[in-house]
Amino acid sequence: MKIAPSVMCADFTRLGEQVRELEAAGADLLHFDIMDNHFVPNLTFGAMILAACRPLTRLPFYAHLMVERPEALLEPMIQAGANSVGVHVEATAHLHRIVQQVKGAGAGACVALNPATPVEMLAPILGDVDTVLVMSVNPGWAGQDFIPSALERVHLIADMMRSRGVRPEILVDGGVTEANIGDLREAGADGAVIGTHLFREGVGLAEAIRALRAAAG
Ligand code: DX5
Ligand code: ZN
Repeated sequence: MKIAPSVMCADFTRLGEQVRELEAAGADLLHFDIMDNHFVPNLTFGAMILAACRPLTRLPFYAHLMVERPEALLEPMIQAGANSVGVHVEATAHLHRIVQQVKGAGAGACVALNPATPVEMLAPILGDVDTVLVMSVNPGWAGQDFIPSALERVHLIADMMRSRGVRPEILVDGGVTEANIGDLREAGADGAVIGTHLFREGVGLAEAIRALRAAAG
């Protein structure tokens, strides 16, 4: 089970150190939440943060674009060092073209799905993407409760993949803790984005990652 720390939950007063600490603690990749205060009612950071962190680690960088007009940010994110670019199906009428552009630029293509978007929306694109990002919170903030229906959605998406003979990785994003990560893995998830729970007070990052891995089974 891949553990993907959500960088927006790190201590930004010492972001560089946190990136190094996350790699040393055993993170599999770093998840960067890009929010534009239009697609979601919150504003985080842009490509400059990925560029600043890029020289510090060899971990894969996944950019999660919670933005309107994601096509405008594909190139900047990949230039800044994103190895995977996640675009919401809800944010574009031209998802197939965006997936082609991302792959053409040499990055992994990730498609993200909000909690109430029918999983059937993925059907036409499942064979073209490298990653499916299943939102288990409504995008915009860290620290929210896990939405239980995400578990059934992971099952359904894994079934869709099996019936099509394709197998992009499935990552789950939002409210993931030891309480649900085992069920998510059993449902077919390959990894989880962890924010608040991973950076919580009083628990070291390595210990937090170990506990999540143990709970995942
Ligand atoms: C929410 C983001 C998530 C979030 C995860 O819009 O996409 O990546 O930061 O943080 P937690 O684990 O606290 O839900
Ligand atoms: Zn995210």
